[in-house]
Amino acid sequence: MDQAPQPEDVAANTEREERRADVQRRIDEVAGVLAETLLGMWRAKHRAERRGEPWPPPEPPKPEPPRTSGLIEKPKGPPRRVFRELEARDELVANMLLEMTWFPTSELWLEPVGGKRTRVVIEYGRVVTGVAVLDEYGDAAVLRALAVRATCRRQKHGRALVEYIVRHAYEVGVGRMYAVSAMQWFVEAVGFELRKRTMLPEDARRLPGIIDAPSNAFVFELRPTQNGRRVPRRSVPRSAVEALLTRSELKAAR
Ligand SMILES: CC(C)(COP(=O)(O)OP(=O)(O)OC[C@H]1O[C@@H](n2cnc3c(N)ncnc32)[C@H](O)[C@@H]1OP(=O)(O)O)[C@@H](O)C(=O)NCCC(=O)NCCS
Repeated sequence: MDQAPQPEDVAANTEREERRADVQRRIDEVAGVLAETLLGMWRAKHRAERRGEPWPPPEPPKPEPPRTSGLIEKPKGPPRRVFRELEARDELVANMLLEMTWFPTSELWLEPVGGKRTRVVIEYGRVVTGVAVLDEYGDAAVLRALAVRATCRRQKHGRALVEYIVRHAYEVGVGRMYAVSAMQWFVEAVGFELRKRTMLPEDARRLPGIIDAPSNAFVFELRPTQNGRRVPRRSVPRSAVEALLTRSELKAAR
């Protein structure tokens, strides 16, 4: 005698049927996508044949691999001198260089009272090779520090740095520039003249960097008229007034 189907059997059958239907639906989906793709390819092939184009189309050219390998990209051409403002990332090297001068490194980031401080580094082939610090007080300025890496000396970096800072000073209206140094040969070579401290104007004698200069230090002033002597750069104006003249006015004035 036939037995009536149990409710558990009915539920199991239904579940099996549903699973089968689900699998079938997925197969149909895949077949549909495949058919569409094949149809697309067939159409594209016939379109290409009609137009006389090659099929399959040629592969696009691969981008050329970069010529330089490794992490560091070598700069093109010979190394260049670049001047820029001192930044926080230069602090370590700047401090190391300034240790060779009388400038107190702890004051590097401070502003002088009543003045403005300019901090410049020179880079050569992307390496910081020197540093300069200039304090400006209106028309007077003090070159507080100048140093070049020991391994990079006698390559005119020091001279280039002085030329740059002098040009900057003239541009901001400085007419007198003083320096304190024991390196007489260098300071004179880049356009300064030895001065007796007692002969300096009163206001200059009181400027920071000069008033507190060691007693064995020489005091220098950038030559206002640089006739017949070595100058930082021939095109550098001789005074703040000259710096404001156009080229033709300058020729006429000289
Ligand atoms: C002083 C200093 C900045 C010079 O820097 P540098 O890059 O070597 O100088 P340069 O190559 O630009 O030299 C400029 C001129 O100075 C003179 N000079 C430089 N070094 C010299 C040396 N060892 N002996 C004699 N003359 C020298 C030369 O006349 C040179 O002229 P030239 O270019 O026609 O040869 C560097 O020696 C230094 O950092 N010294 C320690 C820090 C210091 O004392 N700072 C105070 C400087 S005011």
